[in-house]
Amino acid sequence: MSLAEVLGSHRVVVTVGSGGVGKTTTAAAMAVHAAMEGRKVLCLTIDPARRLANSLGLSEMTTSEQDVPTALFRNHGLECKGALSAMMLDTKRTFDGLVEKYASSEEARDRILNNQIYRYVASSLAGTQEYMAMEKLHEVRQDPKWDLVVLDTPPTASALDFLTAPERLIDAIDSPAMRWFLQVFEGAGKEAFGLVGRGATVLLKGIGRITGLGFLEQVAEFVSGINDLFGGFKERAEQVSDALRSPEVAFVLVTSPNPLAIGEARFFSEKLEAAGMKREAVIVNQVHMPIEEPSISAEEQIAVLREALPASIDAAHIQPRLAEALMAEREWASADRAQVERLADEIGNEARIVQVPAFDEDVHDLAALARVASFLTEAA
Ligand SMILES: Nc1ncnc2c1ncn2[C@@H]1O[C@H](COP(=O)(O)OP(=O)(O)OP(=O)(O)O)[C@@H](O)[C@H]1O
Ligand SMILES: [Mg+2]
Repeated sequence: MSLAEVLGSHRVVVTVGSGGVGKTTTAAAMAVHAAMEGRKVLCLTIDPARRLANSLGLSEMTTSEQDVPTALFRNHGLECKGALSAMMLDTKRTFDGLVEKYASSEEARDRILNNQIYRYVASSLAGTQEYMAMEKLHEVRQDPKWDLVVLDTPPTASALDFLTAPERLIDAIDSPAMRWFLQVFEGAGKEAFGLVGRGATVLLKGIGRITGLGFLEQVAEFVSGINDLFGGFKERAEQVSDALRSPEVAFVLVTSPNPLAIGEARFFSEKLEAAGMKREAVIVNQVHMPIEEPSISAEEQIAVLREALPASIDAAHIQPRLAEALMAEREWASADRAQVERLADEIGNEARIVQVPAFDEDVHDLAALARVASFLTEAA
């Protein structure tokens, strides 16, 4: 299936890959393409990237949806037959929403929301951001307002982090240490504070330094609060995990031609497959494209340069430098091609590999995003 077909036939497309390879850029480019083709698209990003916001004609990314004005497309000579909106994920807000939904009473809800430890967990615990991205996805996927949601994911240090986020978050909260703590605390009451105090200090070292009066009460409240949520929360994480395996969700793997990134992409691809998630396409971004060898001699090149350059610049001096730069670029291109071929060999033919060239400058406006899209959909 071509990437254009993937975009036309799924409700959710998720870009995944290692840091800095172009997940956010290609997610936005795909969203732009699908909107131009007539779909109602939400581009859901994780990072507040101002450059991306500006590319979409917005002054900044916000955690509420903003429409990309159709006039912006027209200004760039493009036509948007559908609609495009953009929104940034708010990790804490999403988590709060879950608490609101699953708390057994209003009082229980407020106790958790106002708890210091909860606030730490909700905004800073490793894996929370990834998990909340999944949550948000689950939520917007069912919203009839969108034909397509393109989800950009946070940079993952390890490929596994993202896929296992729901399970890891549950594990962190439902760890044996946490359960032990809950038992001791609930069973022993206030007289065990000394013991619990030491235990809690060790236990919570990993969670962060939270000091001050009422610390233990905060811990107790958090633990029992989470316990209260737990039935619904666990079930929910399972639903989210299942949603990722639904046929309407497509994963697009993004990589650069860098050998390390290619290695990670292959690893990631295997993990997606093992987890039963559909990897519909692989994007190799920032590829150095082959440049032809000049068909004229060095002397002729000097003559051409002399014509083109001001008289103050010595064309005979410049030409060897240009030839060297061209050679380096050609070597780069052939190294990149070898990496793309290696990837194709390793992951097999069933996934479409598309290449996007490395542009001379950052992708900074709608036209540039549309240009990236034209490579993604092989229209270029
Ligand atoms: N094909 C390209 N040519 C030139 N610049 C590019 C290209 N693709 C992306 N960039 C630029 O590279 C930078 C990184 O891209 P981007 O933010 O999309 O990566 P990312 O994978 O989302 O990174 P992170 O993992 O940090 O979220 C940006 O400045 C972007 O404009
Ligand atoms: Mg990004």
